[in-house]
Amino acid sequence: MLRVYMDANATTPLLPEVMEAMRPYWLEHFGNASSIHQHGQQARTAVDRSRETMAQFFNCHDAEVVFNSGGTEGDNTAIFGLLHPGDHFITTSIEHSAILQAAHRMARHGVETTFVAPQPSGLIDPTDILRAIRPQTRLISVMLANNETGVLQPVEEIGKIAAETGIFFHIDAVQGAGKIEFDVRRFGCHLLSISAHKMHGPKGIGAMFVRRGTPIDPLLVGGSHERKQRAGTENVPGIVGLAKAAELAMHSLDDGTIYRLAKLRDRLEAGVLQLPGTGVNGIGADEKPVPRAANTTNIWFDNLEGEALVIALDMKGVAVSGGSACHSGATEPSHVLMAMGVDKNRARASLRFSLLKTATEADINHVLRVVPEAVEHLRALSPVAAGTLG
Ligand SMILES: Cc1ncc(COP(=O)(O)O)c(C=O)c1O
Repeated sequence: MLRVYMDANATTPLLPEVMEAMRPYWLEHFGNASSIHQHGQQARTAVDRSRETMAQFFNCHDAEVVFNSGGTEGDNTAIFGLLHPGDHFITTSIEHSAILQAAHRMARHGVETTFVAPQPSGLIDPTDILRAIRPQTRLISVMLANNETGVLQPVEEIGKIAAETGIFFHIDAVQGAGKIEFDVRRFGCHLLSISAHKMHGPKGIGAMFVRRGTPIDPLLVGGSHERKQRAGTENVPGIVGLAKAAELAMHSLDDGTIYRLAKLRDRLEAGVLQLPGTGVNGIGADEKPVPRAANTTNIWFDNLEGEALVIALDMKGVAVSGGSACHSGATEPSHVLMAMGVDKNRARASLRFSLLKTATEADINHVLRVVPEAVEHLRALSPVAAGTLG
């Protein structure tokens, strides 16, 4: 059976070039980058070279790149490393739980957070950020691309507000990496987090841009790795894999891959929307179309259960994810869609399709064959469709 993976925002496979770049650092070049002997020096050279690539990726100085374990660590570091009791923090209600849960924890340490809600389109209005600022506001954190809708946030405008008001600005750029061009100077941020596994790199490795002079306390202390900003023996194969993935991502931004991906996503979307009782979450909610990451669409299907559709599609070889998350056994509708004002039942009946950058026309054809069959079948069985579910 043809299998089509359309859950790239959950994770992506390694590209073969990434695997090849990493291989020697698991085997012959296994040294500890802090060791003086040749094994160590080979590892150190690889880390230094990877740092140069990441500096190019972010458009920053080498010394402003800190390797870590991924997006969760970057998000936590920004919040735990900058905020002190009595500070005020501004973020949005559509962030990843790595931000939201860190903010909730800081409440116990005397940090109050304002969660700015999005427009119905999923876009954060920078003036809402401006309005939330208080004299005690020390940090603003806004994501670059939303993981569920793909909506790209106006980080440059928020960066300008942060600069004018003297507030630190962190961007969770995990879902933007490899999908849009990065320039931390243009974004106007002090901190920015990315994760390799969302961009065809390995899991458990990421990097943070930390603007020179940002007074951030490290999350992990111990050895003096990463200029004392992140203790722990460097994950050399991971770092090499991240840098290779970033290098390939930079090429894809230049060689038309992302444009091609947007065309495939648009064809998929238009095809699915042929079905009655469907629509794209966010699109059409406001007057103007909103910018989105090229690979993502989030579609609602009336009169069926989203979870049942995820399972039905999986059985037909299509991997997507639902607009709900399982918290302690109960399926909760997505906090992102709810914050956008999507009705609870519609949020539960929404699916995210997120394409790998290797997606093909044949993948789209397969999905467009399978989705109508599965939807029609489920609607025929559904108590929701039959009106027997209160
Ligand atoms: C927007 C966003 N931030 C942070 C994370 C966490 O990244 P990681 O899996 O590297 O910890 C994710 C992963 O789903 C994400 O989508």
